[in-house]
Amino acid sequence: FSCRAELDLRPHGLGLFENSSAPRELRTFSLSPDPPRLAAPRLLEVGSERPVSCALDGLFPASEARVYLALGDQNLSPDVTLEGDAFVATATATASAEQEGARQLVCNVTLGGENRETRENVTIYSFPAPLLTLSEPSVSEGQMVTVTCAAGAQALVTLEGVPAAVPGQPAQLKLNATENDDRRSFFCDATLDVDGETLIKNRSAELRVLYAPRLDDSDCPRSWTWPEGPEQTLRCEARGNPEPSVHCARSDGGAVLALGLLGPVTRALSAANDQGEADLWDNPSWTSWPPCEPLQSCFPDGPRFEEPSCPSNWTWVEGSGRLFSCEVDGKPQPSVKCVGSGGATEGVLLPLAPPDPSPRAPRIPRVLAPGIYVCNATNRHGSVAKTVVVSAESPPEMDESTCPSHQTWLEGAEASALACAARGRPSPGVRCSREGIPWPEQQRVSREDAGTYHCVATNAHGTDSRTVTVGVEYRPVVAELAASPPGGVRPGGNFTLTCRAEAWPPAQISWRAPPGALNIGLSSNNSTLSVAGAMGSHGGEYECAATNAHGRHARRITVRVA
Ligand SMILES: *[C@@H]1O[C@H](CO)[C@@H](O)[C@H](O)[C@H]1NC(C)=O
Ligand SMILES: *[C@@H]1O[C@H](CO)[C@@H](O)[C@H](O)[C@H]1NC(C)=O
Ligand SMILES: *[C@@H]1O[C@H](CO)[C@@H](O)[C@H](O)[C@H]1NC(C)=O
Ligand SMILES: *[C@@H]1O[C@H](CO)[C@@H](O)[C@H](O)[C@H]1NC(C)=O
Ligand SMILES: *[C@@H]1O[C@H](CO)[C@@H](O)[C@H](O)[C@H]1NC(C)=O
Ligand SMILES: *[C@@H]1O[C@H](CO)[C@@H](O)[C@H](O)[C@H]1NC(C)=O
Ligand SMILES: *[C@@H]1O[C@H](CO)[C@@H](O)[C@H](O)[C@H]1NC(C)=O
Ligand SMILES: *[C@@H]1O[C@H](CO)[C@@H](O)[C@H](O)[C@H]1NC(C)=O
Ligand SMILES: *[C@@H]1O[C@H](CO)[C@@H](O)[C@H](O)[C@H]1NC(C)=O
Repeated sequence: FSCRAELDLRPHGLGLFENSSAPRELRTFSLSPDPPRLAAPRLLEVGSERPVSCALDGLFPASEARVYLALGDQNLSPDVTLEGDAFVATATATASAEQEGARQLVCNVTLGGENRETRENVTIYSFPAPLLTLSEPSVSEGQMVTVTCAAGAQALVTLEGVPAAVPGQPAQLKLNATENDDRRSFFCDATLDVDGETLIKNRSAELRVLYAPRLDDSDCPRSWTWPEGPEQTLRCEARGNPEPSVHCARSDGGAVLALGLLGPVTRALSAANDQGEADLWDNPSWTSWPPCEPLQSCFPDGPRFEEPSCPSNWTWVEGSGRLFSCEVDGKPQPSVKCVGSGGATEGVLLPLAPPDPSPRAPRIPRVLAPGIYVCNATNRHGSVAKTVVVSAESPPEMDESTCPSHQTWLEGAEASALACAARGRPSPGVRCSREGIPWPEQQRVSREDAGTYHCVATNAHGTDSRTVTVGVEYRPVVAELAASPPGGVRPGGNFTLTCRAEAWPPAQISWRAPPGALNIGLSSNNSTLSVAGAMGSHGGEYECAATNAHGRHARRITVRVA
C-alpha cells in the first residue's frame, strides 16, 4: 500500500503539488496449529547412522517456513522438500560416543513470527559386540585351551549356553583339546537392556586341533575279503590334522596298493603279510596286465558276464512280449538277479527271459520302468555284478485326446495341419490324407475341404490310424431377396418377401421393415415376410439380415405401394 497527497494551487496561479509515501507491504501467513510429526528411532547405537524426518502441512507460504532439526545440541541440517502446503525435512542422525545417554530430538518450524515444535526422546547407547578369544586358535591334542568371551560394562555374556555370573563380567571355559574338538565352533552372545528393550549380539570362533594320524577298522579294514572278478575300489583312509597321506605297500617292499582306483580283484594279487593282519593287494592300475588270467586259473567256474549274452544296453518295446535276456557263464549255472539302482527304479526287480529251452512261458509285464539296473550273478564260487541301462519304447497310439475324430474349420482361415498327434517312442510321425490327397492341399480353407480324412501314425515299432471328420463352417451370405409380386403392390393387395441365406451353421434371419408398417407376418424360420392388405405405410425399404457365429450379412429391397 502507498498513500498519496495532492495540493492543488492551480486556481491561485501556482501548480499541483503531490507526494507519495514509501510503499508498505501487507503479508499474510498461515501456520497449522498441529505440532510437526517426527519420525525417528527410539534407540540409536553409537557410531550408527539412522534416517530421521520431520513433516508438517497446512503452511502458507510453505517456502518461507524455517525448519530446525537437531539431536541434542547437534544441528542435523536437514534436506527440506516442499509439496503444496506441506514440507518434509529429512536428515541422517549419527550418534557419537560423547552423546551417549538420553537425548532429545527437536523439530522446530518457524513461519511469520510463530513457531511449532515437537520433541522426541532418543536413547543413545553403546554396545560393542562380544569379544570371543581362544588362548590359541590352533593347538595340539592334549593341550589346554581357554575360551573367553567379554563384552561392555552393562552387557551380560553367555558362552556355550552358560551365562556369566553378573553383567560386565567375562565368561570363560577351559578344555583339554581332543581330536573331536577339531573344527569345534564356540558361540557367545551378549545381551544389553536399553530403555526396556533387550538387544543381542553374538560371535563365534573355531578351534583347530592338530592330531596324529589314526587308522581304524571302519576307514581302513585290517582284512579284506572280496569275491574275485568284479572291479572294486580299494579304500584305506586315515584321520588326522593336517590330513595325512596314506600309502600302502607290501611288507616285502614289493607292490604298492593304488588306493581309490577301480581295479579287478584277483587272487594272485593278494597276499597275507607276516603278522597275518591284512590281505594286501597288488597295484590294480593294470592296463598292460591280462586281468582275467589269474582269475580263471584260480576259479574257472565263477560267474562271468559276456556282452553278447547279457548286454549293458537294452531297449524294451511295449507290447512286444520280449524280456531282457542275461545269460552268465559259470559252473554251477549262476543265478542272476537284476535290481533297479537309483531314481524311480530303486529296488525294482527286472523280469528276465528264462534260458532256452524254457520250462514254462514267462509272465510278460505290461509296464517296465526304464532306468539303471544292477545284475548280480552268483554261484558258490562267488558273485559278479554288472550295470545294465534299460530304455523303453512303444508303438504309436492315437485316441480321441491326441487326434479328435471331429474337427471344425472356418472357411477362409489359413489352413494349418489337422490336430492329430500320437503317443509313442520314438516320437511317431503322423500323416493325414483324403482319398490319397494329403492335407493341407492349399493355403486357405474352403468348403470343399470338409470330409473324412484318414490319419496314420508311424514309428519303428508299428503304426496306428484314425478317421477324422472335418467340418468347414462359413459366414452367412444373403443369396436371394425377392418380392412377390415383383415391382409393387396396390393398396389392399397382398405381398411377400423371401430371403434365402447360405451359412454354416445355418443363419438366423431377421427383418427390418419401414417404420409404421404394421401387421407383418413372418414364417416360422423368418425366411418369408408377408403382408395382407398393404397400406401406404407398408411402402419403403425392407432389410433381411442373416447371422451366425461367424458373422452377419444383410440385403435390402424396396416395396412400392401405388
Ligand atoms: C516528499 O516527501 C518526503 C518525505 O515524506 C520528502 O523527503 C520529499 O522531499 C518530498 N518530495 C517533494 C518533491 O516534496
Ligand atoms: C522424555 O523424557 C522425559 C524425562 O526423561 C520425560 O519427562 C518425557 O515425558 C519424555 N517424553 C516423551 C515424549 O516420552
Ligand atoms: C588331557 O587329556 C589327556 C588324555 O585324556 C591326558 O593325557 C593329558 O594329561 C590331559 N592334559 C592336561 C593338561 O590335563
Ligand atoms: C548372530 O548374529 C547375526 C547378526 O550379526 C545373526 O544373523 C545371527 O542369527 C545370530 N545368531 C544367533 C544364533 O543368534
Ligand atoms: C548303449 O547305448 C548308448 C546310446 O544308445 C551308446 O552310446 C553306447 O555305446 C551303448 N553301449 C553299449 C555297451 O552298447
Ligand atoms: C550279489 O548277491 C549276493 C547274494 O544275494 C550277495 O551276497 C552279494 O553281495 C551281491 N553282490 C553284489 C556285487 O551286489
Ligand atoms: C425371427 O426374427 C426375430 C426378430 O426379427 C428374432 O427375434 C427371432 O429370433 C427370429 N427367429 C428365428 C427362428 O430366426
Ligand atoms: C425356412 O423354412 C422353409 C420351409 O419351412 C425352408 O424352405 C427354408 O429353407 C428355411 N430357411 C432357412 C434359412 O432355414
Ligand atoms: C390376401 O390375404 C388374405 C389373408 O391371407 C386373403 O384372405 C385374401 O384373399 C388375399 N387377397 C388376395 C387379393 O389374394
